[in-house]
Amino acid sequence: MRRTVAVVGCGGMGFKHALNCRDIDGVQLISVCDVDSEKGTELSKITGATFYQDFEKMLAMEKLDALIITTPPIYRKEFIQKAVDKNINIFVEKPLSISKEIGKEFCDLVESKPIIHSVGFHLRYAPITDKVRNILDSHEVTQIRTVTATSYYIDMDMPRWFLQKRFSGGPLFEQSLHLLDLSRYLFGEIININGVGKHLLRSNRSFDIEEDLNSEDTIILNSEFANGILGVHSESCANLKFRWELEILGPTISILVDYANNTIIGSILDGDKIENVNINQLDADWHKIELDCFFKDISLRDNSTELKVRSDFFDAQRTVSLMTQASKSLRDKL
Ligand SMILES: NC(=O)c1ccc[n+]([C@@H]2O[C@H](COP(=O)([O-])OP(=O)(O)OC[C@H]3O[C@@H](n4cnc5c(N)ncnc54)[C@H](O)[C@@H]3O)[C@@H](O)[C@H]2O)c1
Repeated sequence: MRRTVAVVGCGGMGFKHALNCRDIDGVQLISVCDVDSEKGTELSKITGATFYQDFEKMLAMEKLDALIITTPPIYRKEFIQKAVDKNINIFVEKPLSISKEIGKEFCDLVESKPIIHSVGFHLRYAPITDKVRNILDSHEVTQIRTVTATSYYIDMDMPRWFLQKRFSGGPLFEQSLHLLDLSRYLFGEIININGVGKHLLRSNRSFDIEEDLNSEDTIILNSEFANGILGVHSESCANLKFRWELEILGPTISILVDYANNTIIGSILDGDKIENVNINQLDADWHKIELDCFFKDISLRDNSTELKVRSDFFDAQRTVSLMTQASKSLRDKL
């Protein structure tokens, strides 16, 4: 059976998911929506989907099975509310929200509704993550170290709102949460988190950081997991190069999972022998895998098969709560 889909928010991720829809069996992108008619028209031309500037009009005109929401986090309430009213399945990009209260409202809306809901944490779907899970089955972990680093404040090669806290929640919600959500997925809940954040480049770069670009560029977080593991996270938006890393340490394991390069390197103790780990994953589009799981769940919903979505609204809300706690700890210290 053909599933009809619309995308609202025709920026970077809207394009990405819209193009991926074309490669998923049984899925047809029929409409796209954006307040910016230039972006919406461009995506419409590429995909053949009808462009709407008015979301309500799109819902009135089109019969949708699923809605993909890729607007900035603070512009989502209307779309989620109206989609839920019509029992339309929802895929929303991370973060679910930058507000714990609004995230809770979204969870309340979907609770006991007959819809599939998914939040875009694509690292959970990476084949390399499945390899890590297999390795972890037989090793005790005592510490993890995660890194998210970008050149945002140096190259300014992202949408401006990424660095405007009122829109994005800053790099904690924009970048760090990818690795912290992945950590929750692999190691369980984090019960304590706190840190220090600074905006160091303001004083020593040749260009002026404009007033509204008010995010930290350098953050360190400490965390404690419910199972006792201790974690350290390092965030930089003032780095030469893109890095997303997870380092896993324990008495029989010492590995680095490099998501920027799609590799796992390090050592594990196998019996009484130390084995080298050197895994290069074949290329896979992690965003496409997560979208495919969302549509599979829509098709399988009535069967008792285990759902494939790895982050529904309720799970994603726990990551929102965690990031809220981390963000509050930065404010307290600054
Ligand atoms: N999972 C990932 O790898 C990944 C990567 C980048 C961004 N993201 C997330 O995806 C989301 C979108 O990011 P992006 O990079 O695509 O941003 P973007 O700025 O490129 O695109 C956002 C689009 O939403 C449109 N928009 C804004 N308000 C709207 C409204 N009220 N109605 C309709 N359209 C509206 C804008 O005009 C723009 O075209 C964010 O939540 C971001 O954190 C995820």
